[in-house]
Amino acid sequence: MNKISIIGAGRVGETAAHTIAQQEMCSEVVLLDIREGAAAGAALDVSQSASYFGFDTRVTGGTDPALLKDSNLVIITAGSPRKPGMSRSDVLDINRAVIDTLIDEVLEHAPDALLLLVTNPVDVLTWHAWKRTGWERGRVFGQAGVLDVSRMACFMAEETGFSIKDIHAMVIGGHGDSMVPMTRFSTINGVPATTFLDQGAIARINKRTQHGGAEVLALRQTSSAYNAPAAAIATMVDAICNDRRRILPCVCNLDGEYGQTDITVGVPAILGRNGIEQVVELPLDEAERTGFQASIDSIRTDLKHL
Ligand code: LAC
Repeated sequence: MNKISIIGAGRVGETAAHTIAQQEMCSEVVLLDIREGAAAGAALDVSQSASYFGFDTRVTGGTDPALLKDSNLVIITAGSPRKPGMSRSDVLDINRAVIDTLIDEVLEHAPDALLLLVTNPVDVLTWHAWKRTGWERGRVFGQAGVLDVSRMACFMAEETGFSIKDIHAMVIGGHGDSMVPMTRFSTINGVPATTFLDQGAIARINKRTQHGGAEVLALRQTSSAYNAPAAAIATMVDAICNDRRRILPCVCNLDGEYGQTDITVGVPAILGRNGIEQVVELPLDEAERTGFQASIDSIRTDLKHL
């Protein structure tokens, strides 16, 4: 991949740009932000770390949407973050207007790109962005589940004392309190996680996963999480740039999978060079299906407000 553009040079966008550049996932990273100097400054700062990390990826930034020209992948992190006590849905109206403008710029300057949404509420805005592009569904997707599973894995490591390297977690549903941590599909180097976790531990892990972003925000007060979100973005970018065809939970547009249509929601999917190549359907049990449906219902409520 040649060129990746990240719209929004806040902490998430800047940290993602640094990781992507540092790992030389592409030859050029562009940061874009409407705040004068914010993207250019972040890009310069990242560039000045290149000699230490030894990367040749060119990182530039600015305010002109024409900088998006010919991007292969556009990542949207721009928008109003939530304040302590707010839910992700509380920022829907303001961020929908932001997304509308940005999608029009992408359509003008990077009509052949893949589009990765990060701005919250990400499930609803991924749907909105997809509608506005009119693109095939696999080209427009969102980041949420990769972050949620990394939080779940972190808490599983804490509860079990095992290496996080061996832990594979799974979360489906919306990126909100109704997300569904899937212990039954989580493993520790192939061994079902349920072998090591009692009901109390599972309940603690699930609760902290569902409120993972809020816990960070409540502690920090002035900043949402950005290190783990940026790592999650970079993980998805790596899967795309290297055509790894990884199975990662992504915000996908469902067209019959899981018995759902006209919705974007987190489910495992094969992610590669062309974006979402295929949704992977997990055989859900009754409780999981009920939780997933509740999550879908809450996204549909937000979709009605669009
Ligand atoms: C989080 C916010 C950014 O989960 O959605 O940290």
